[in-house]
Amino acid sequence: MKSARRDCAPGLVSARVLPLIRGAMPEPLIIALDGPAASGKGTLARAIARHYALAYLDTGSLYRAVAYLLLREGADPSDEKAAAAAARAFSLETIDNTGIRSREVGAAASVVAAHPAVRQALLEFQRDFARRPPGGAKGAVLDGRDIGTVVCPDATVKFFVVASPQVRAGRRFRELEAAKPGLTQADVLADLMERDARDAARADAPMAQAEDAELLDTTHLTIEAAFAAARRVIDGVIRRCES
Ligand code: DC
Repeated sequence: MKSARRDCAPGLVSARVLPLIRGAMPEPLIIALDGPAASGKGTLARAIARHYALAYLDTGSLYRAVAYLLLREGADPSDEKAAAAAARAFSLETIDNTGIRSREVGAAASVVAAHPAVRQALLEFQRDFARRPPGGAKGAVLDGRDIGTVVCPDATVKFFVVASPQVRAGRRFRELEAAKPGLTQADVLADLMERDARDAARADAPMAQAEDAELLDTTHLTIEAAFAAARRVIDGVIRRCES
């Protein structure tokens, strides 16, 4: 394992990429993207999944779905027992993709995500998705906060995607403003800062850059430029292993 990493691409590639490029892939190609809210990792993850024909899982949507269920029932997101029960009841099919995108659900998701029992309940689902990607895909792209560190520490390629708080707040504000008259960019910035602090400070699987993750700062990048930068890294890993 260690020597495969050294031989191919120091700090970036795991042993699983060797069989992949030799044409016999016993294990899937896994690409992990972590980073703070609105850093651009979701957009990037979807573009990577499309380009390399991989399955995609937005792991934040799982925590959002749990939070959404709790809020709908009038339960308190900080109640670990209720949150863990909601996490165990969760299924991908029941996710309300529109409902989970609100500002309130985002904040509550960060609260439920700090409960170890919730993380435990969602862990196997995420690992299973990566190990056995649906639809016969040859691998999977997962984005979140702890994919490279906890969910898939052996991912083939890992990114930690960041952007300045102001740029992130601007992006999230433009997504939310139509549905929320009166909302200001300053409100969104305050939400993001609070959420980032909670996600990074929690004891269990905090948001963190894996040691072997590539740092990608999208502050001054268009979506196309960020995607091109990610592709260079992924293609580079594969090429180095081929040579
Ligand atoms: O990526 P997002 O903003 O949709 O995520 C919502 C919340 O879910 C985020 O504030 C923290 C939590 N989360 C997490 O703890 N671990 C993940 N892998 C993904 C999201």
